[in-house]
Amino acid sequence: MSSPNSRPIFETRPASWWDRNAVPKLIGFCCAQPQIMKARSRIVPKADGDVLELGCGGGINMEFYDPARIRSFSGLDPSPALLDASREAASARGMTADIRGGVGEAMPFDDASFDTILVTFTLCSVDEQAQVLKEMRRVLRPGGKALFLEHGRAPDASVQKWQRRIEPVWKRIGGNCHLTRQITGAYQAAGFRIANADKTYMPKTPRPFGWIEWGEARN
Ligand SMILES: C[S@@+](CC[C@H](N)C(=O)[O-])C[C@H]1O[C@@H](n2cnc3c(N)ncnc32)[C@H](O)[C@@H]1O
Repeated sequence: MSSPNSRPIFETRPASWWDRNAVPKLIGFCCAQPQIMKARSRIVPKADGDVLELGCGGGINMEFYDPARIRSFSGLDPSPALLDASREAASARGMTADIRGGVGEAMPFDDASFDTILVTFTLCSVDEQAQVLKEMRRVLRPGGKALFLEHGRAPDASVQKWQRRIEPVWKRIGGNCHLTRQITGAYQAAGFRIANADKTYMPKTPRPFGWIEWGEARN
């Protein structure tokens, strides 16, 4: 077991009224659009073994898990407003779940604890993306997989220009959600091997918000 004291301490920013009350509703609305739910239905059922969902939010992915493939389920999210909803969603699915408050930059789990980490629309919102990816590699078993589905930096210069313009305001109202972060490239830079990856602009979504990438990142 690694000592928690050997890692830097990361704490959640103090939550403002907006973060506590408006952001969960905004996330619930934006992240439950039909085209996003369809994308979730393609990636979440691949989770198997001992599973961690990082940034589990209000449990929106819960309906897509295949409980028969899951030995244990853990969740981690810093938002107290969302954790109870996540626990209820797990219980409604008949899954025993260990859902904790905490951040991906310093996960309260032992080394090599999980076969799968599911991360959807979360690396856009963390404070230190590279540190989270490092922690993911630590808590994943060798050969384990991160299943990812994220929005981020678009390939087109004209869209990137708008992403850079909008991001400073958007991240303030959208729970620290960034528009310009790399996705697959960030996993590769952290040392993951990428498989079954794909990317596209989501239909019916303004392009600065609509570039998504998904796939499996092997530890
Ligand atoms: C846009 S929401 C997505 C929620 C959910 N994963 C989904 O797919 O709809 C971003 C989530 O990341 C969580 N989050 C923010 N900072 C985080 C951090 N440092 N570590 C882990 N989760 C974080 C937020 O609380 C929120 O639940």
